[in-house]
Amino acid sequence: MEVTHIAVEQIIKAFLFILFAFFSVFLTLVLFFYFSRKKIVKIAVEKKNQEIMYQKEILQSVIQTQEEERMRIAQDLHDDISSKLNIVSLNTHLLKTPNLSESEHTEITNNIIDLTKKALENSRRIAHDLLPPVFEKFGLHAAIEELVLEFSTAKNVKINYENELEFSVLEVKKQLHIFRILQEVLNNSMRHGKATSISITFVSKNKQNTCLYIDNGVGFNASLGNQKRGIGMQNIESRVNYLGGKLTVQSEINKGVLIEFNF
Ligand SMILES: Nc1ncnc2c1ncn2[C@@H]1O[C@H](COP(=O)(O)OP(=O)(O)O)[C@@H](O)[C@H]1O
Ligand SMILES: [Mg+2]
Repeated sequence: MEVTHIAVEQIIKAFLFILFAFFSVFLTLVLFFYFSRKKIVKIAVEKKNQEIMYQKEILQSVIQTQEEERMRIAQDLHDDISSKLNIVSLNTHLLKTPNLSESEHTEITNNIIDLTKKALENSRRIAHDLLPPVFEKFGLHAAIEELVLEFSTAKNVKINYENELEFSVLEVKKQLHIFRILQEVLNNSMRHGKATSISITFVSKNKQNTCLYIDNGVGFNASLGNQKRGIGMQNIESRVNYLGGKLTVQSEINKGVLIEFNF
């Protein structure tokens, strides 16, 4: 009797122990999943916040560039056109002055002709800076060829441009983004990189339209990432985003710059 009593007691103890052990394991698992889930959610929220911050930064740089562009255009219009047309207007009124001598008349007319010609040239230049006519008439390929020619003649740099893609199948807006990206990287290579040799290649890589841009300039520390990005690079990034592509920038001090993006 006594023996069975002890046995039952032991079985109950063992049962309680197992129950307790199961419960502890269960509790540990629940706590583990709860906390790891919380951590995952926290990381996801942090990532999302970073993305939002980044988008904000890009938007800000786009707005800032737009404002700077407007200011520059306003200044160009004011300095190079309005001021000249003003003098033309003054001169035209002078023509009405009674009893002008022949020579005065000639001088005023020459002034008007001269200034109108300058204003016309300037308005052409301003329009060309905004959008080269060759882009509208002959498309991106011709516009890049012209850009390359302008850079190589104005600066001491050799540029090799090769293209195996058909740009005309792209929307004009997309072509314009590619053109603006090239304008920016070329300016950077001259201004910051002091490059003497540049290569621009458009190829189909893994069935994706790809632009590969290389300069042999002084380079910069690209591993600093966002820290080093100015408005120009941010704009390039937002343009590549618009093109639905990916941008990679590789550079080290004294090792030139390699930029690749697809679209
Ligand atoms: N091709 C390049 N060669 C050397 N440094 C470059 C080049 N492109 C960009 N950089 C560096 O990256 C920085 C950011 O460029 P960017 O965003 O275009 O701004 P910004 O041209 O207004 O300075 C530059 O100030 C420069 O230090
Ligand atoms: Mg720049």
